[in-house]
Amino acid sequence: MPVYSGRRRAAALLVLGGICAVSSDPSPGQWETWHRNTGVTCIHNLLLPNDRLVCIERPQERPYGINLNTMGETAVEIDISQPDQPFQINPIHKNAFCGGHAQLADGTVLVVGGDARSLEADGIPFLYDGRKGVRLYRPCEADAVAAGTCKKGTWEDQPEMSTNRWYPTVTTLQDGSAIIVGGTMDHLDFGSLDHVDNPTYEYFPPKTGGTWPRQLDLLAWAFPHNLYPFVFQLAESNHVFVFASNRTVLIDPQTDAVDHRIPDLPLDADQAPMTYPHSATAVVLPMTIANNWTMTIQICGGSKLSDQGAASANCYQISPDDPNASWKRVADLATARLMPDSVLLPTGQVLYLNGVSRGVAGGNGGQVQYAQDPVFQPDLYDPTSDTHTLLPAAASVGRLYHASALLTQSGHVLTTGSEMQNYVDYVAGRTECWGVPLGMDPSDHAPTGEAVCTLPFGHTIERFTPPYLQGVDEATRAHVASLPESASYGQAFAVTASLPADRVQRVVALRYTSSTHGLNTDQRLVELVIRSRKDTQLEVVAPRDGRRAPPGRWHLFLLNASGVPGTARPIMFGDSTTGIKSTRQKSGSVSRQSAPTTTAWLTFSAVGIAGASMLAYLFL
Ligand SMILES: *[C@@H]1O[C@H](CO)[C@@H](O)[C@H](O)[C@H]1NC(C)=O
Ligand SMILES: *[C@@H]1O[C@H](CO)[C@@H](O)[C@H](O)[C@H]1NC(C)=O
Ligand SMILES: *[C@@H]1O[C@H](CO)[C@@H](O)[C@H](O)[C@H]1NC(C)=O
Ligand SMILES: *[C@@H]1O[C@H](CO)[C@@H](O)[C@H](O)[C@H]1NC(C)=O
Repeated sequence: MPVYSGRRRAAALLVLGGICAVSSDPSPGQWETWHRNTGVTCIHNLLLPNDRLVCIERPQERPYGINLNTMGETAVEIDISQPDQPFQINPIHKNAFCGGHAQLADGTVLVVGGDARSLEADGIPFLYDGRKGVRLYRPCEADAVAAGTCKKGTWEDQPEMSTNRWYPTVTTLQDGSAIIVGGTMDHLDFGSLDHVDNPTYEYFPPKTGGTWPRQLDLLAWAFPHNLYPFVFQLAESNHVFVFASNRTVLIDPQTDAVDHRIPDLPLDADQAPMTYPHSATAVVLPMTIANNWTMTIQICGGSKLSDQGAASANCYQISPDDPNASWKRVADLATARLMPDSVLLPTGQVLYLNGVSRGVAGGNGGQVQYAQDPVFQPDLYDPTSDTHTLLPAAASVGRLYHASALLTQSGHVLTTGSEMQNYVDYVAGRTECWGVPLGMDPSDHAPTGEAVCTLPFGHTIERFTPPYLQGVDEATRAHVASLPESASYGQAFAVTASLPADRVQRVVALRYTSSTHGLNTDQRLVELVIRSRKDTQLEVVAPRDGRRAPPGRWHLFLLNASGVPGTARPIMFGDSTTGIKSTRQKSGSVSRQSAPTTTAWLTFSAVGIAGASMLAYLFL
């Protein structure tokens, strides 16, 4: 049943008036509930081949009780192609909630850092402090999935980092190694900032020689606005782009020299610092033949400077490979959003979705989050014309803090996660019933204690059908019928299409994503050159190098002559062995240790988070 209604659309266009360019008749798109129970709240989302997704959550406890879906385990693997498939618990031993992640060259996903909270059952610990944790998730191989011999991937523990990292960013570099930037020593409490700053970075595998981890002046300056910095591999050099607050530096990973040539992002347009808790989202815009594969980073959303509880619609762009690069303000989002997610679409457009119009990111440590007023309608951005269009179809589930979004190989967009959005009850002092979901009339709900309260965990996945997939005729979409498992940089390879090759207009590769907290450093779209076409076969050239297209697994999409994508298939680009010299250690072999005595549990007062003093009480 289409959720779109003419009345809602008229209202949407009215709101838009004068803010941005809107096409007169946007196709609506369509939402549907996809998975009804993901088992855990998908706070961390790691996309795997074979339409699998790993989700990791916060270890849930008081006042909600342990997660009974998983008996307290925090990680699951989900089949996102089949909504009726049950989630599979896949225990992670070191708490990865608040960690960072990126896909490595061999298709494993590196997950580092996390939270201190530990859990035990009957006196036996099963989840440990994960702040120094380093784990790899190794997905099932396609043939093992087909043969039914691999049901879920494996966690492999690696030697720990030398330091704690809570909200670090991980980015895979052109050579297949990864940079790990920032993250505090412990969860961030804006009321007591002593002893948590950790303005350093390091690499995986660890670099030998010199002193590690190494201090980064940008992070020291930006604290406490230095969490989950925006970090990307540049396309024309080995340098790494690192943005926090309103400043950018470029690190040369060969020498670790830091280049300060990029000017500050001007905050004169009523824009608060663009990192947590005023979280904006950053995305590398599509690198296409038409734009000569120029790498442009766009940062959108966050909070206003004048009213830090109100979301901002501002967007800024920079092309950091340009020796004279500077930020420029570009078209505003169709509607202001704090904590938006940005999803690259195979058409070369960007879908901005999720997020809120009021509040800030963060919460009080496990009972309630401070974001309010979810934005339900997606915003479709066309980088070639710099226009945002608010699509009429509204999601039915608010995705506020700890939510995420990702593109699937079928070309759909999934939204996941969101937790503890019960602010309304919370400020009303209804502490006996923290679980009442936002928007529910409290009078409908008997406020007689935790037992009768709904738990505020986002365990559903909604699926958005973008306008380009509405009413499609499968026979006219260009699906990938076959392609090689991998291709070296610059090498030509053959792709068989479901259509005659002369009906395939474009070929694009989209790197597998891993996202959390609006941050997705893996996501990237690179258009490929079609060298020749014969029958249903195309000869396509793999991306030039790991600067333009960091090594790892990508979705290959074909677009038909109307620009409609078919279903993608995975391909590995680059040498899958580069950069990875990990020490393999099965996670089951983690030595037993006593659970840490520290607790992330903090006391709070309902009065404290109301109004202006809200900012003083921020932490996870
Ligand atoms: C960047 O942020 C700092 C700290 O908030 C501020 O002092 C500086 O003026 C900002 N720079 C610009 C160009 O807005
Ligand atoms: C495209 O970019 C490359 C660098 O990647 C540059 O050498 C070339 O001159 C550019 N071509 C055009 C037409 O701008
Ligand atoms: C960069 O700016 C300097 C000074 O404005 C100018 O001399 C130089 O030509 C510019 N370089 C490029 C590549 O635009
Ligand atoms: C491309 O696919 C779409 C969706 O099925 C279809 O409507 C359109 O006609 C196709 N274009 C061509 C040129 O075949």
